[in-house]
Order: sequence, then structure tokens, then C-alpha cells
Amino acid sequence: MKGSLILDTHTSVAKIDPRIFGSFIEHMGRAVYTGIYQPDSPYADQDGYRKDVIDLVKELNVPIIRYPGGNFVSGYNWEDGVGPVANRPKRLDLAWRTVETNEFGLHEFMKWSQKVNSDVSMAVNLGTRGLDAARHLLEYCNFPQGTYYSDLRRQNGAEEPFNVKTWCLGNEMDGPWQIGHKTADEYGRLAEETGKAMKLVDPDIELIACGSSALDMPTFGQWEQTVLDHTYDQIDYLSLHRYYGNRDNDTANYLAQSLDMDDFITGVLAICDAAKAKRHSHKTINLSFDEWNVWYHSDQQTADNKPWQVAPHLLEDIYNFEDALLVGTLLITLLKHSDRVKIACLAQLVNVIAPIMTSENGKAWQQSIFFPFMQASEYGRGTALTPIQSSPTYETKQFEQVPYLESIAVLSEDQQTVTVFAVNRSAKESLELNVSAGNLNFDHVLMATEFAGYDVKETNEQGQMKLVNNSAVSVEADNLTAQLKPLSWNVIRIALNKA
Ligand code: AHR
Repeated sequence: MKGSLILDTHTSVAKIDPRIFGSFIEHMGRAVYTGIYQPDSPYADQDGYRKDVIDLVKELNVPIIRYPGGNFVSGYNWEDGVGPVANRPKRLDLAWRTVETNEFGLHEFMKWSQKVNSDVSMAVNLGTRGLDAARHLLEYCNFPQGTYYSDLRRQNGAEEPFNVKTWCLGNEMDGPWQIGHKTADEYGRLAEETGKAMKLVDPDIELIACGSSALDMPTFGQWEQTVLDHTYDQIDYLSLHRYYGNRDNDTANYLAQSLDMDDFITGVLAICDAAKAKRHSHKTINLSFDEWNVWYHSDQQTADNKPWQVAPHLLEDIYNFEDALLVGTLLITLLKHSDRVKIACLAQLVNVIAPIMTSENGKAWQQSIFFPFMQASEYGRGTALTPIQSSPTYETKQFEQVPYLESIAVLSEDQQTVTVFAVNRSAKESLELNVSAGNLNFDHVLMATEFAGYDVKETNEQGQMKLVNNSAVSVEADNLTAQLKPLSWNVIRIALNKA
């Protein structure tokens, strides 16, 4: 098979917002306790954070992390997680039917986020609470001093404000499973008034309103329209959430799910832009795809869970090779929409549907999906070039025309390098990829790696998976040729010649 990609800097998608490589930590399962925080671990630092986890999070270079939920936030009192630990109440968490000790809270998370060099996207509880709790939390986090909540923060050890810039107005409020689930009108009004008050406290913040929890929600479309009708003037982003799974064991169809993500993004953008036109507005609402990943391996674990445990094993999907390939195609899809998707969060980061896993006694390890995310985050900074791509296609039960090749190129910020990300979805054939330089000048290949050769169901529990060099890549006269193995994730970096 042959496929091609033509580069042309005149038709770029956008300068990529680095927050597209964000992630998510929820107070659930073992994400926090025994995940990022485990004072009795041999790997803990003096503050009780796991150093092995910090190192791996740093490798992923995650610029923003959403916190503290997720479904959890819809029943959470943020005040429970501040002040002396001995005074913090144990609470029932109704979202996951566990016990939250509150040993770890806001200050602990803010400190950890600094250790991993990440900003925070803070979610407020619009399930059981509302405007008052949200504005008080914002005052606590961002107001310098001299008021009740800002001085409480200082008293609790943080003299300087946290200056959290990005805020989520609730979580998945369209979902009947959500504690305090609302109709679109109920949520829209609450988000509008909460957003208004929050921007009065701090006009520099950015707000994300809840869109649909999935493309197949029965309220999809109507939900977005109604929420935008209420909140358009207050918010900056609308959220999307989507999880995938290969429950039918149909790899070809599974690897095509990035087309579903593409449809979802395109659909939500159409609704945002219709709302803009209807209001004759000059303001554009962008997207925050603030939960996306594979989630299905742990279905039985969830069903078997016994309620009211502290930090039980929940949603501990063990990812295989095909999951990593799908994640690669989803990352490319997000990059293709980087003109409007400004924030995206791989959900989640540690232990709970996560690229990083820990065991209580052993060292943290990388799941298969760690590798494509790490490379996209490292090399996907700069300008996404419009993919002018050709590829043979195949058909699945869900999609008529699935390109075997999924690809995009990113021009680095210093314009010295172009990086091509490419997935070959074919299980049988390798694909000869031709990349033509367009209006760029290729100098030489800086790096060419492939993630290939594993059984689709193989996992990385033994730590054997690795990226290897692809020697079948060459550049000649502004044309690059690369052999992409069947079922492979590929990253090729080309040094550019300015002359
Ligand atoms: O990430 C796990 C859960 O998925 C989140 O709590 C919720 O927002 C979504 O349904």
C-alpha cells in the first residue's frame, strides 16, 4: 500500500495550544491515594508524593491537569480538603460509593502540580452545590489577601494565591448518573449565574461549560444549544467527553473510532458556531475535550466493586497494543482540530484508566498508551499543518471509508523541524508513506521511531514494550519515504534547511 502527505505551511490548522496534551486526576479509585500520594511508599518524597510517579508524569510533559473530578466533584465540599489534616472529615463519596478521607486536598494537589510542572484546571461542584461554593473556592485560590477566604488560604500555608486560570463549571451535568443531574435549562441557568459571579471575582479566568458526556447521549445537540443559549457570554469553552472500547473484539472497527471523535468535534463546533451566528456575536466558543481515552477493560472490576472502601481498585484498565494505536489516532485527530480544540485531557493520569500505573509496593510503570501520548506531547508543539493526505481506505460495520493511514505534521515553534505522526491501521500490509516537503526544504531525518510488532492484545505489564528506530526512512530531494509496518504508530522528525 502507498499513502502520501503533502506539507504546506500556507495551509496550517493552527498554532497548537499545549493544553491539548492535558490530563486528569480525580479523587477516585487509586488515582490520588497510592497513585500520586502514598506517604508509606518506599518511593515517597518528604511530602508523601510518589517520586516514581512524578518522574513519569514529567516524562509525559502534561501542561494542565483537571481536578478533583469527574463525577466525584458533584458531591464534593472543597472545604473538607483544606486546613489541618487531623480536622478533615471522612465523607461518603456517592459518585463511586467509596469513603473519601480528605487526607489529600487542595493544597496537597497544588503543591504536587508544581512538582510535575503542570497548571490546574479546577472543577467546581454544580451538582449538590452552586454559585456560593464556587465563588468562595475561587476567592480562596486566586484572591491575594485581606478577605475571609484569601486569608484562610494564607492561614493554611499558601501566602501567594494559586492563580488557577482554567475552571470547569461542573461535570457531565447531562448524565443521569451525576449527583445533582440537571436538565439543560437548569444547568444552563446555574452555569450562567455561577460563571458571571466567578468572572466578577477574577475576570482573568477562563470558563468551561459542560457539553455532552458522550456523542450518543439522547440529549446531544439540544443540550449544547440550550446551554450555549444561557452561557454564551460567560464561557470560553464547551466540553466534550468520550471513551472508547473494543467490546466486540473487532480491531479494524475499533481503530476507526477516531472518526467518531472527529464527528463529535465537528458536530459540537457546528452548534457553537450556529449559536454565534444567532447572537450576531463576535465571540467564538472553543472546545475543551476534557475527558477522552479507552475505558472498557475494567467493566467487571467496576461491577464487582464493594461499596464504602477507601481507595479501592477501580477503573484499572490494563491497556494493550491496539489501545495504544487507537490513542495515537485520537491524538492525531485532536491535532487536526487544534484550531478549535484548545484543551484536551487524557482521562485519567494515574491508576484510573491511566497511562501510569502503580502497585502499593512496587514501582510505577508505563502502560502501552503512555508511548504515543509521550511522543505527541513532546513533539506535537508548534503549528499543526493541514494534512493533505491520500490513503487507501477500508470499510467497517460502523464506517464506510476508513483511511489506512492517519497522519499529521507539526512544524516546531523554532521552525527548524517538522514532525510527522502517522498510524498504519492495516493489520496485514505495510504502508509506504511519501511525505513531500511542499514549500519547506528537507535537510535530513533527525529521528524515526516506530511502535510496532506487538500482538494487538499484548500489554506492557512486564515492561517489554518500547519505541524502536525505524531504519526504513530516507530523504531525497525534498521527498521522504518511510515504510510503516502493519499496525504501527510512527514518529518521524525531519530537520529543515532554511536556505
Ligand atoms: O473518568 C471517569 C469518569 O468518567 C468521570 O468521573 C466522569 O466525568 C466520566 O463519566
